[in-house]
Amino acid sequence: MRRYAVQGLVAEAGRLALDYFGRQESLGVTMKGAQDWLTVADGAVEDFLRQRLAVLFPTDTVIGEEGGGAASDAVWIIDPIDGTMNFAHGDRNWCISIGFLLNRVPTIGIVAAPALDELYVAQRGQGATLNGRPIAVSATEDLKRAYVELGWSTRIPFERYLAVLQRGNAAGCAVKRSGSGALGLCHVANGRTDAYLELHINAWDVAAGIVIAGEAGASINDFFAGDGISNGNPIVCATPALAPRLREIAGIS
Ligand code: IPD
Repeated sequence: MRRYAVQGLVAEAGRLALDYFGRQESLGVTMKGAQDWLTVADGAVEDFLRQRLAVLFPTDTVIGEEGGGAASDAVWIIDPIDGTMNFAHGDRNWCISIGFLLNRVPTIGIVAAPALDELYVAQRGQGATLNGRPIAVSATEDLKRAYVELGWSTRIPFERYLAVLQRGNAAGCAVKRSGSGALGLCHVANGRTDAYLELHINAWDVAAGIVIAGEAGASINDFFAGDGISNGNPIVCATPALAPRLREIAGIS
């Protein structure tokens, strides 16, 4: 079964990434653009995953952050290191994210945060787990006690990000940014936060987290609508009670 084979693969990829992380001098940090970080580990982990996925599932396709790729009816969407800025600075909030879409439906999600010793796994219709234990979103209903993560990148004009931050703050939310969209969705899934919002994010950052948070009971917009798989989209992932109001705040339908 795809999910179990890939869990083993992710464990191996996690050890590879952790080895780089433990040798910060080996990271070969470069910039793809302003605040768009790259390390040699990103390429090494993606190459490893691509090679192994090709052997395990020769007819599936792969889309990866570093190497691109094509969508198909059976496509793996991978981010070898999500939270690369954290990774490059010795901050443990980073992960490996692997999502699988079957006929465009997000079906399997695996997010491994090896430096935190955390593994999130979900399969459509079968619930979500953290380190083997079932997880669920928080019961938060009131924005005045909501803990919200608002992701940011230079792909969106800063004024738009600030406007959402301002509206969220005015509505009573506490807002933070932690630098990994994939883990941001997982933190909604296990109730550490109540929502994750970002005005534009790429499919490799969220393909796995959408399955994990969805199976944990989160309400999520139709991220893969239009050309979301190749060009990304906005995302609002929240407890069901908070989602409608947060979509208004983010200006996302
Ligand atoms: C980024 C992170 C960040 C999010 C950005 C992503 P990367 O991915 O997930 O939290 O806000 O939109 O680009 O560069 O660390 O793989």
